[in-house]
Amino acid sequence: MSRLLIKNAKALLGTHPVGALRVSGNAMADLPHIEDGWLLVENDRITGLGGMDTWPGVTDWNGLEVIDATGRYVLPGWCDPHTHAVFAATREEEWVDRIRGLTYQEIAAKGGGILNSARKLREASEDDLFLSSKARLEELMRLGTVAIEIKSGYGLSLEAELKMLRVVKRLKSELLLQVKATLLGAHALPLEFKDDREAYINMVIKELIPACAAEQLADHVDVFCETNYFTVPEMVRILEAAAAHGLPGKVHVNQFTSIGAIHEAVQHNCLSVDHLEVMTDADFTALANSATIPTLLPGCSFFLGIPYGPARQLMANGNAVALASDFNPGSSPSGNMNTVVSLACTQMNMLPEEAINAATLNAAAAMGLSHELGSLSVGKRASFIVTRPLHSPAALPYFFGSDGIDTVVINGRITRAGEAVA
Ligand code: NIG
Ligand code: FE
Repeated sequence: MSRLLIKNAKALLGTHPVGALRVSGNAMADLPHIEDGWLLVENDRITGLGGMDTWPGVTDWNGLEVIDATGRYVLPGWCDPHTHAVFAATREEEWVDRIRGLTYQEIAAKGGGILNSARKLREASEDDLFLSSKARLEELMRLGTVAIEIKSGYGLSLEAELKMLRVVKRLKSELLLQVKATLLGAHALPLEFKDDREAYINMVIKELIPACAAEQLADHVDVFCETNYFTVPEMVRILEAAAAHGLPGKVHVNQFTSIGAIHEAVQHNCLSVDHLEVMTDADFTALANSATIPTLLPGCSFFLGIPYGPARQLMANGNAVALASDFNPGSSPSGNMNTVVSLACTQMNMLPEEAINAATLNAAAAMGLSHELGSLSVGKRASFIVTRPLHSPAALPYFFGSDGIDTVVINGRITRAGEAVA
């Protein structure tokens, strides 16, 4: 058995009660914590924690690794419930075109955007995709990400979508962080179907979803429900086909326009609705008091220069807001959750406590993992961050552009060892 003891932590943050699977509305401003704390890890689990005054002491130091967290905070590792982290090539030339004045939609209309990524992904081998994605994920683990959702959606054909999801399956089995896979066959209409969208949607429903279910390649299904992409009735058909295979929806909605997708996503029990940069009163009403989690993507707003998601309004309505990076080569080429949390505070007026809850417990919930991750609670996976010495938890997002991290532990293993490791 491997054992790891964290002692003298300035505070353990995110010590939600065992069984708390999300935190909603006003309660998001409360980040439960224990000052002057200890935490014990056995194998991959948290097996004990408390204040140093309750520390039972150690009788057997044999093989026990120790982290002295004096002056440092310990918090649950970041969970990132929305990414497109498997891709074949970057798209900085499109970004430069945007600097010169083109819009994201204009670039897409010229055959760039998602279709550009799809052309390149179809040419890439599964091994090359695996290796480049693995390197990306390893960098994110250093930055404190302990769980990640990864979508397909740059294949846009039966074989290329399955290729992407097989890469995700390999990442799941070979890396220490938790990985969830989402089938995003309906990300854009591929060129070869441009005059027959019905045939493509049928392929997604009749071939792709069943093939994924048979090979257990997907945990969720996504649709880019947006003007010029997929309509609300098309999203509904895909969600219903997915539900028949036991796959819940996590959908892209309200990024550029509001077309009634949120109401239908809620009616179809989607786990999350993601983006929400453009919202109407009816969208807020549909979401209020529903179990569907609004996932906001401030990195995408920052990079595209579009509005930020309405975090304050959603919290005022009682929703459990989650944050994600949307890591992808077109609209958000960063998977750094430290940056996402900072942007959420500076641009969306989330309090540091709210943003940390949104990027940990609620983010875990938005990928069906909050029974395992997202808080420092006995029985959960030992996947957490030890910070550098900081004056207060708010200093973490305050120092934007810096990760503030000393040590990262994933599944009980020290994956980034800093100065606190004794
Ligand atoms: O979440 N909105 C759709 N999909 C991605 C962008 C994909 C791309 O540009 O490659 C997003 O922003
Ligand atoms: Fe996305």
